[in-house]
Amino acid sequence: MVRVAGVTKRYAGAVACQDVSFQLERGRFLTVLGPSGSGKTTILRAIAGFLVPDEGRIEVHGVPVENLPPYRRKVGMVFQKLALFPHLSAAENVAYPLRMRHFPKDQIPERVERYLELVKLGGLGQRRIHQLSGGQQQRVAIARALVFEPDLLLLDEPLAALDRKLREEMQLEFRRIQQELGVTTINVTHDQREALVMSDRVIVMEGGRVRQDAPPDVTYGRPADRFVASFLGLTNFLRGELVGRGPDGHASVRVGGQDLQARAPAIDLVPGAPVDLAVRAERVRVCQEGGHVAILEEAIFEGDRRVLGVRLPELGDARMQLFDFSQLDRGSFMAGRSIRITWSPEDMLLFPADQRGGNA
Ligand SMILES: Nc1ncnc2c1ncn2[C@@H]1O[C@H](COP(=O)(O)OP(=O)(O)O)[C@@H](O)[C@H]1O
Ligand SMILES: [Mg+2]
Repeated sequence: MVRVAGVTKRYAGAVACQDVSFQLERGRFLTVLGPSGSGKTTILRAIAGFLVPDEGRIEVHGVPVENLPPYRRKVGMVFQKLALFPHLSAAENVAYPLRMRHFPKDQIPERVERYLELVKLGGLGQRRIHQLSGGQQQRVAIARALVFEPDLLLLDEPLAALDRKLREEMQLEFRRIQQELGVTTINVTHDQREALVMSDRVIVMEGGRVRQDAPPDVTYGRPADRFVASFLGLTNFLRGELVGRGPDGHASVRVGGQDLQARAPAIDLVPGAPVDLAVRAERVRVCQEGGHVAILEEAIFEGDRRVLGVRLPELGDARMQLFDFSQLDRGSFMAGRSIRITWSPEDMLLFPADQRGGNA
């Protein structure tokens, strides 16, 4: 359905995206996830045909995008700025793309109502845009992007401006509509939760490059590199030195004079190489014996849990965070108290050391 091959775009010396390649099958929901400035919008605009890459090719349905004038492309789009017509009603906004495409006039009202119902705005078509809430306006924009039944839906952070509760509702709503219609969708966001909740596949970008392209559970559970591990979830990193690899697919890493076991990556690393170990906060647990001594330093109350910050004297005073879901009253936390924590070697990931960061 969509084929992006080796796309590079430069602006006056700066590279917006570099050698980006991926393919997307019909009916799938892909999210491009990355921090601000990582090249997400550039890729989306190139797919929409608004921007010509310096290198590489983009095909939609086997046709290079530059061969089709914009009005012939069957692409629906929703951006952060919704660009609704404020002086028109919701129904007139949704009808607009149909009029542009010379859709039979007598069929327009029925089609518009069907799409307003799809986004749960049935009966509200006569309202002006300013008479609708933020979430309702969002739905009008979705209906307008879908009403002409595009082959491809492109979303550029359309939920970013909404408050958290509404944003989380709309994530599920988007997913429902996408599955109902089976429309091939590419969504762009910097919000990891959104990527994990909505997508069949996630492409993680940083500095204009693709860092990982995988289903959401793989992206989260088996991050391809240190950047992906740090961008998704709350991750503890430990700087160490590779001791060696065992025959069982594990590696031994020395951290502050102790040897820790980690899941060995497929890449080649020689003993003595500096490495970063990574373990998710939710994989670290408090234990009665064994494990490692940890000194409590802080507790952040988040309502449904506390995030405990600890220091590990046996591991070169590395700092780690873990979650505490016990319903203890807040007074039970005592800075300086010593506890024991542990994790499974399966949950300890190993990456080549990143020069930008050590223990953190
Ligand atoms: N029109 C432009 N002129 C100059 N630089 C640009 C332009 N558009 C994007 N860039 C630069 O390219 C990089 C990627 O931008 P963008 O694709 O908008 O990232 P994202 O959408 O991930 O925030 C950024 O460093 C940005 O400053
Ligand atoms: Mg952007």
